[in-house]
Amino acid sequence: MNEHSKEPDIANMSTWEELLEETVNTLSLLYPESARVEGQWIVLSASGYDQAGFLKNKDTIASNLATRNLKRILNRRIEGEPIQYALGSWSFRNLELIVDKRVLIPRPETEVLVEVALSFLSQNQQTDTKIICDLGTGSGAIGLSIAQECNDVEVTLVDHSMDALKVASANLAGLGNHAVKARILQSSWFENFPESMRNSFDLIVSNPPYIAFGEDLPPSVLNFEPSEALFAGEKGTEDIESILISASQWLTTGGALVIEMAPHQTTEMSETAKSEGYSNIKVHKDLAKKPRIVSCIWEE
Ligand SMILES: C[S@@+](CC[C@H](N)C(=O)[O-])C[C@H]1O[C@@H](n2cnc3c(N)ncnc32)[C@H](O)[C@@H]1O
Repeated sequence: MNEHSKEPDIANMSTWEELLEETVNTLSLLYPESARVEGQWIVLSASGYDQAGFLKNKDTIASNLATRNLKRILNRRIEGEPIQYALGSWSFRNLELIVDKRVLIPRPETEVLVEVALSFLSQNQQTDTKIICDLGTGSGAIGLSIAQECNDVEVTLVDHSMDALKVASANLAGLGNHAVKARILQSSWFENFPESMRNSFDLIVSNPPYIAFGEDLPPSVLNFEPSEALFAGEKGTEDIESILISASQWLTTGGALVIEMAPHQTTEMSETAKSEGYSNIKVHKDLAKKPRIVSCIWEE
């Protein structure tokens, strides 16, 4: 890094391969374990090349504009911003989603949540359109994945944050033909749902905030990700409970509710689901084999 400024010391008129090495060297001072992979992501993002294009063009001199772009991304990373925000996009299942500080960075455990949600859609033998809701959609990761991966679905993406919904809208616009299957609704949980939606959902899926106030979080999360996407209240289970209590009024008979939560919350939240009258309550594990998702069915 430059002694007098925080600008990374990256020379202009370098080839893409030289830029990659300089980027990796700069990152390795701060992030030794991930420097190479992050360096590759940054160079691919700044150049606009895919992996094959990069290999073909690695001896080309990068334009000043592209070099400036690379320095901008690298500088944000040096300042401690998560790599996903510095890049401005992140992949989730089959999607490349726009992500910035208005939304939570989509996590791998949420890809499993989508898998569990999809399993309910394939079990349901109904032939007509499945009506789905993604509560607390953020970037749109869950709902847009379902819209992209399933044929006959109508997905409502819900968030109370207008800022988050702007990001979800941009991601919806990037969905091409699948975009007709999704729409956006600003609401605090079910508050603004029209009466016509009552008892209509075949599936409600949610990754709500589930962290308790004061819980320890890494600085990269605490300082950059939106607090309204992380913290639920004193216990951490407030939003999950609120969804469990209200969702039954919006599910169709036989409809499924699938919620992501922290591993230590799954037993208590399964009990709450039972006392609220749900049946077929199951706990599903994430990729690290930790209990992470509770699913249940509304039969009444
Ligand atoms: C943990 S983030 C999940 C974002 C995204 N679904 C994902 O999995 O990456 C929780 C989301 O719930 C939203 N949220 C928090 N409280 C809400 C409420 N009362 N009503 C609706 N959305 C809420 C936040 O704005 C945030 O986008």
